[in-house]
Amino acid sequence: MAKQDPNAIGFAVVGLGMGRHHCRSIREAAGAELVAICDIDPGRRAKAAQDYGCRTYASVDELLQDDDVQVVNVAVPTGLHADVAIRVAQSGRHVICEKPLDVNLEKADALIAACDDFGVKLASIFQRRLHPLSKRIKEAVDAGRLGTPHWADIHLYWYRTDGYYAGGNPPGWKGTFKMDGGGACMNQGIHSIDFIGWVMGGVASVYAKTGTFTHAIEAEDVGSVLVTFKNGALGNITCTTSAYPGLTNDFHIFGNRGSIALMDEKVIAWRIMREDGDKDAELAEERELQALYPGSDSSGAADPMAVGFDGHTVHVEDMVRAIHENRDPIITGRDARHAVEICVAIQESARTGREITLDSAR
Ligand SMILES: NC(=O)c1ccc[n+]([C@@H]2O[C@H](COP(=O)([O-])OP(=O)(O)OC[C@H]3O[C@@H](n4cnc5c(N)ncnc54)[C@H](O)[C@@H]3O)[C@@H](O)[C@H]2O)c1
Repeated sequence: MAKQDPNAIGFAVVGLGMGRHHCRSIREAAGAELVAICDIDPGRRAKAAQDYGCRTYASVDELLQDDDVQVVNVAVPTGLHADVAIRVAQSGRHVICEKPLDVNLEKADALIAACDDFGVKLASIFQRRLHPLSKRIKEAVDAGRLGTPHWADIHLYWYRTDGYYAGGNPPGWKGTFKMDGGGACMNQGIHSIDFIGWVMGGVASVYAKTGTFTHAIEAEDVGSVLVTFKNGALGNITCTTSAYPGLTNDFHIFGNRGSIALMDEKVIAWRIMREDGDKDAELAEERELQALYPGSDSSGAADPMAVGFDGHTVHVEDMVRAIHENRDPIITGRDARHAVEICVAIQESARTGREITLDSAR
């Protein structure tokens, strides 16, 4: 079966859990064509073959014999990301890697280096950063509209069932250090951890306490972290998968000239002082933002597959353009590394009881 559109970039997806979102997003994306999928599970392969009508492979090595494949989306369990993606890079294909890059910095760095060495592009999925509201916040902060930010926090109050942790393939990999790199912070919280690090210009140090309260897992289902950002501001990261039935994902940032508060993707407050002191204009801006971003029903609070796949589509279309324009993807492996660094430091701080300064802040 040849590619249907000879001008489209040929994509393949490895791993058909969240990978099914990748398949849908590739089919939606302009300039992309889903030519193959790969999974070691025959049932998932058969279902995907039926749903997407593309070639199927039982191993990455077989997939990499397929000349139509130019980009591989890696959505296997996290502890296998570098292993699979490095083989993809060695074959000369570009990589879109699910979050996080891998479970530790050694593996994340090996993946980044392999993509450099073999001259292929590495994009990391962090769809929260690509949301238009996230961009508005980043622009406001970078333009100094909030003045000097002195505080930022995220509070992820989510829920995962025992069945969630027992499931997946290999069964039970979620919530393990070896395959998931941690629990509520590294897996569920990492989108928001990446987001807050990006908005604030990086995390310098963390002091964390973690606990495992409601699940039979190795890593944390509650993590509470005091943060010092590289710009000197303070903050907090709270991530849990023990907030039945799955509540909200909140964000706050305060500077000496303004405050922004979100509950999920709903703007609760957007109050930024104006140079001219015009309070009506200040309130009008907040009303505009609240009307544009009233919230959405597609939250991962209780079910990871309930998140929409629009963000994945943006990543796929960006990779298509990055290839045509011979530029880096919008979120590269290097951009995504800091979130892994923060999560690894959170684990170390919780384990040792010490405040951990990140290497990238030294
Ligand atoms: N961006 C997001 O919002 C989001 C949401 C959920 C999960 N994820 C990420 O997606 C990744 C996968 O998570 P999941 O929940 O889908 O896990 P999962 O266990 O449900 O699915 C993983 C799939 O990979 C397959 N697989 C395992 N080893 C393989 C190999 N060597 N070769 C080919 N296939 C293999 C399994 O058979 C399974 O179908 C994780 O890194 C996770 O962090 C991202």
